[in-house]
Amino acid sequence: RSTLMDKIVALCKRRGFIFQDSEIYGGQNGFWDYGPLGTELKRNVRNAWWEDMVGRHDPLDPLPGAPSAYQMVGVETSIIMHPQVWKVSGHYDLFCDKMVDCKESKGRYRLDHTKGRWVEGKIADKSTDTVGPVKAYFVTALVEESVLDETLTKKALTLFGMKNKEADKLQWKTEAVSLATIPVNQYVDVVAPDATKPGTFTEPRDFNLMMKTIIGALGTEDNAAFLRPETAQGIFVNFKNVMDSTRVKLPVGICQIGKSFRNEITPRNFTFRSREFEQMEIEFFCKPDESPAWYQYWRDRRFAWYTSLGIGPKHLRLRDHDKDELSHYSCGTADIEYQFPFLADGEYGELEGVAHRGDFDLRSHMEGKLKNENGQLVVEKGPDGQPKWRGSGKDLTYFDDQTRERFLPHVIEPSAGADRGTLAFICEAYHEDEAPDDKGQMQTRVVMKFHPRLAPIKAAVFPLVKKDGQPEKAKEIYRALMAAGIAVTYDEQAAIGKRYRRQDEIGTPWCITVDNDTLSGDTVTLRDRDTLEQIRLPVSEVVREIASRLRK
Ligand code: GAP
Repeated sequence: RSTLMDKIVALCKRRGFIFQDSEIYGGQNGFWDYGPLGTELKRNVRNAWWEDMVGRHDPLDPLPGAPSAYQMVGVETSIIMHPQVWKVSGHYDLFCDKMVDCKESKGRYRLDHTKGRWVEGKIADKSTDTVGPVKAYFVTALVEESVLDETLTKKALTLFGMKNKEADKLQWKTEAVSLATIPVNQYVDVVAPDATKPGTFTEPRDFNLMMKTIIGALGTEDNAAFLRPETAQGIFVNFKNVMDSTRVKLPVGICQIGKSFRNEITPRNFTFRSREFEQMEIEFFCKPDESPAWYQYWRDRRFAWYTSLGIGPKHLRLRDHDKDELSHYSCGTADIEYQFPFLADGEYGELEGVAHRGDFDLRSHMEGKLKNENGQLVVEKGPDGQPKWRGSGKDLTYFDDQTRERFLPHVIEPSAGADRGTLAFICEAYHEDEAPDDKGQMQTRVVMKFHPRLAPIKAAVFPLVKKDGQPEKAKEIYRALMAAGIAVTYDEQAAIGKRYRRQDEIGTPWCITVDNDTLSGDTVTLRDRDTLEQIRLPVSEVVREIASRLRK
């Protein structure tokens, strides 16, 4: 499965879907850039989410499975919020991972070029799966520190006893990025001369995952603020504004797509766990007694969204959290999980969490919170008669003018990762099959079977040959598709089979070819990416046909 992941990562780089951030400077662990095709793909993921969740439902008529009709509106809030938000939300006290330091090594290892040995720094890892023999740590450090540095990584591997020849065999240009996706265990047979005994580790300690920044010119700790670790809080603090400024009524979802930041201790598995990523979150506000039915609705609705866009249900599961797994705010959470290829068989990675958050957030922002001796955040007064973190003091209750009741709404939160979703759509799309080349010989073909709504480019137009007026005719069709708002490309370079192959590899669903019959009979061929079926179509029908296939 890791070989499959390597191929996917290599394709992403080769065809301009995803690059390591600041790659020419050696990259930064946990940060990724989207290339031209990746940008279109991710934009299509975001747009599909927005259209399906916010746009395509009738607020007057319940959707199938919905307990009642409901409204959905959007907001776009700041990445840097008032520091009090994070104290009251619980992130300041509780949004931590465990970190251990290795006493024996007194620091994170770096390879000193000149001395050819590991020196200084800190080794940190949060999860027990990688807390193992010291040699595993060496590799973790190696992957973390030298992820894109070929010379350094090769040198390190040879230090560990891997022969130069073997190190040479790795295809560095493409493998370098994917080193981050390789589980530590794969390197266990690489023995470090001075790493034969397990390390001694300090007690795990808390490490807050929020990224800090300083606001203003003075640059003192008093001006410290945080980059948001979730977009959700921007919605909660604007609940009253949205209710006061619009005519929406409960049940209502307030939606937001935006960047979030977390100082993940071990970013890994390509974009799966990054330090900068994008979330697509819905905070759905409803009456407390209706909240269980809405929780069920959103679990099912969100699961169905992934399958409607091409994720095979056999690769997807909905997993209820055990009681001890629930976040401090949640009285019920289910994760939508996908079988990513970098995981072992039978393992799943989280794509989205659907949480029943009760009234935790609105109540906290209204009244404030105190952390009790069990580490829980509760609405209790401290010895001085005040909560530890003061809320806004604003009334965030909702008045139902039908029942004449005033109450704090409960919240169901479907919280999805745009990058994780995009990665899952990429993994699911990757296929290898056989297709005939220009000489009719069967060849292995790499094809990205994106759902047409997500495909970065919907159609490609080719002249069969670069003469006889074919390029001119093909360009006319290309321009007509573009004028209809369809993402289309034109290609006249190389043999036709090669051009089909190029489009298959980036997931273009349809190719339109102009040939001699086009000029005599005004028809083109339309080739389907998945079935390889080719039909003839009048030129005048091309735009309508592609548009209608896209609507399906
Ligand atoms: N507001 C709730 C919340 O943020 P979460 O489970 O921590 O919940 C929601 O995050 C989603 O955000 C995850 O299911 C995942 O898709 C995405 N996500 C979280 N951390 C991420 C990371 N480090 N890299 C990429 N995506 C991440």
